[in-house]
Amino acid sequence: MTEIFSIYTLVEALYLILPAYSANGLAPLVGLRKKLHPIDGGRRFKGEPLFGPGKTWEGLIFGTIVGGLIGMIEMLAYPYLPFSISPVPLNIVPMSLALGLSLGLGAMCGDLAGSFIKRRLKIPRGRPAPILDQEDFLAGALALSMLLVPLEASWVVLLAFVTFVVHIIANMIGYVLKIKKQPW
Ligand code: CTP
Ligand code: MG
Repeated sequence: MTEIFSIYTLVEALYLILPAYSANGLAPLVGLRKKLHPIDGGRRFKGEPLFGPGKTWEGLIFGTIVGGLIGMIEMLAYPYLPFSISPVPLNIVPMSLALGLSLGLGAMCGDLAGSFIKRRLKIPRGRPAPILDQEDFLAGALALSMLLVPLEASWVVLLAFVTFVVHIIANMIGYVLKIKKQPW
């Protein structure tokens, strides 16, 4: 196993997770449209929404497509990326359309599971749930993609840290750009 907090682990981990970051980061764009179809169709469970109106079919499908597209771009870009300048051999995951799609779909399903938990805790749509808000999509993306490729434990640990910080910064940017309604 490689060292966790090293630039090598970071490069390997970011190359893997980029489709999931893109899916989760760009899904809020569908929220700019007026007519959307909530996955729970307005259904409730013990008085609270099943997932809430922030989880739509449009978001799930768009996030999955974005993941697939980014996975394909990474696959095509691979020969041109300067991984060989690394003094230690890198373990770069073989990116593909299928892996990108599974990272995108996994991210959206993890995010959906996060909202399910938030609603059970009676946290309304759009209100913050620290750690859950930042890590739910990562857990989903890693869980689904590990069916396709072997994941290193060091990537998972590093990504849990990096994602927490990146998610908070990215959402603040999305809020300033008016893509996201809340800064979390
Ligand atoms: N989104 C969507 N469908 C999804 C996921 C996200 O339409 N499956 C869009 C929604 O417009 C949502 C926005 O992306 O409001 C931001 O996503 P997120 O922060 O995960 O949702 P919240 O609205 O904050 O709701 P929750 O409290 O359930 O996290
Ligand atoms: Mg949210």
